[in-house]
Amino acid sequence: MNILDIIRKKRNGEQLSPQEIAFFVQGYVDGSIPDYQISALLMAIFFRGMIPAEISVLTRQMIDSGRVISLPENPGPYVDKHSTGGVGDKVSLILAPIVAALGVHVPMMSGRALGHTGGTLDKLDSIPGYTTALSEADFVRVLGSCGFAMTGQSKDIVPADRLMYALRDVTATVESIPLITASILSKKFAEGADALVFDVKTGRGAFMATLEDAEQLAASLVRTAAELGKTAYAVLTDMSVPLGYAVGNFLEVEESVQCLQGNGPDDLMEVTHSLAACMLHAAGKADSLVQGRELSRQAVADGSALDCFYRNVELQGGDPNQLQKMLGSFRAPVSLPVTARSSGWVAGIDALEIGLAGIPLGVGRSKTTDQVRPDVGFMFDVTLGDRVDSGDRLCTVYAADQASAESAAARVLGAVELAPEQPAIRESLIVKEML
Ligand code: URA
Repeated sequence: MNILDIIRKKRNGEQLSPQEIAFFVQGYVDGSIPDYQISALLMAIFFRGMIPAEISVLTRQMIDSGRVISLPENPGPYVDKHSTGGVGDKVSLILAPIVAALGVHVPMMSGRALGHTGGTLDKLDSIPGYTTALSEADFVRVLGSCGFAMTGQSKDIVPADRLMYALRDVTATVESIPLITASILSKKFAEGADALVFDVKTGRGAFMATLEDAEQLAASLVRTAAELGKTAYAVLTDMSVPLGYAVGNFLEVEESVQCLQGNGPDDLMEVTHSLAACMLHAAGKADSLVQGRELSRQAVADGSALDCFYRNVELQGGDPNQLQKMLGSFRAPVSLPVTARSSGWVAGIDALEIGLAGIPLGVGRSKTTDQVRPDVGFMFDVTLGDRVDSGDRLCTVYAADQASAESAAARVLGAVELAPEQPAIRESLIVKEML
C-alpha cells in the first residue's frame, strides 16, 4: 500500500478502504508519512468528503492511535458534554456540577480558547490554585469524590488528532464535517464516557455558522457515535449573540457562580438546563427531557449544584473562600464603559465580533502559544430586546491598559445593533434537539 495511491483515490472521489485509512493514520503518527502528503490527503477529504463508514473507521483509527482512559465501572454511567465552541459559553462550568449533583458522573476533558471562541480550561485556570492538568489517577479520584472532574487532554490521548488538527489549522482544512467528526469523537471516546451530548452551535459566533452545516455536523456526530457503540444526543443552539452577560475568563467563572446561586440569565440557563436534561436522560436518571429540565432546575434551587461546584474547586486545588472573595472585585486595572450613542432597542450583539475583540485583550488567543489573562473581558449590561437611551451603559470593558480598552470598546460599540423599533427576538436558543 502506498500513500500516493491513497491520495489519488480520494482526490478522484473514491472511498478509502479501512486498511487504507489505518495505513495513513498510523503512518502519520509514526512519522513514516510526511506532513506534505497528509496535507494533500486532508485537502482531498475536504473537497471529496467521506461516507459514514469511512468516518467511523477514521474515528476508530484515531482513538487507537493513543491511550484510552478506563474509568472504574462504578460509579457509572459516565456522561459528558461537548460544545463546538462559542462566545461567553461557560455552560460546562454550570452544567457539570448540576448533573453531578443529580448522580451522573461527568469526566470532562476540555480545550483552551482558540480563535474567537473561549476555552473552559482558560476560564478554570483563572481560579487561583485550580489545576486543569490532572494526572489520570487524580482525574479518577476527583470524579469519584464530587461527581465531575475537569482537565486538559494529556499528550498520549489521540496523538493522531493532535498532529492532524495542527496541520489542518495551517492548511485551511478545519471546516470539514468528516474531519471534525473524527477529531471530536476520538477525543471524547478516549476519555472514557459512556454517553455524549453535543451542543452544536449555529449562528455568527459559531464555528459552523449556517444552520445547514450545523445540522450536518450534529447528524454526523450522533450517527458516528452510535455506529461505534455510544449513545449520543445533539442539541443545536443559537450562537449569534454571546451567551449570558460575561465574556472573559474570570468574569465567566463569576457568572457561572451566579447561575449556580439561582441568578443566571435566561439564555444561559435555558441552554444549560436543556443540555442537563439530555445528559440525565442519556444516563437513565430522567424519563423525559421535561423531567430532566425540572431536575436540573431543582439542583440549582436547592443549592446542591453550587455545593458540588465548590467541592470540585477544592479537590482540584483551588480555595473556595478565596474565590468567593474575588467575586465582583477581581478585575483588570483599566475599566472603560461603553455607552449608547443613540436610543433604541438592542436588536443584535455580534458574537463573532465580540469574540474577536476579546483576543487582543487576552480573553482568548490567536495562536496556541499566546498567553491569556484571567481578569480581562466584557461585562454587558444589556441583552437582546432591551430598550436603551442615548448615554446608557451597554457594557464595561476590562483591560490591561487604556489603549487596548479603547480599541475593544470601539469594537463593542460597533457590534451592538440598536433598532428604532422593538425587534422580534428569538423565543428560544434551542434550535433543534436530535436524540
Ligand atoms: N474541535 C475539535 O476538537 N476538532 C475539530 O476538528 C474542530 C473543532
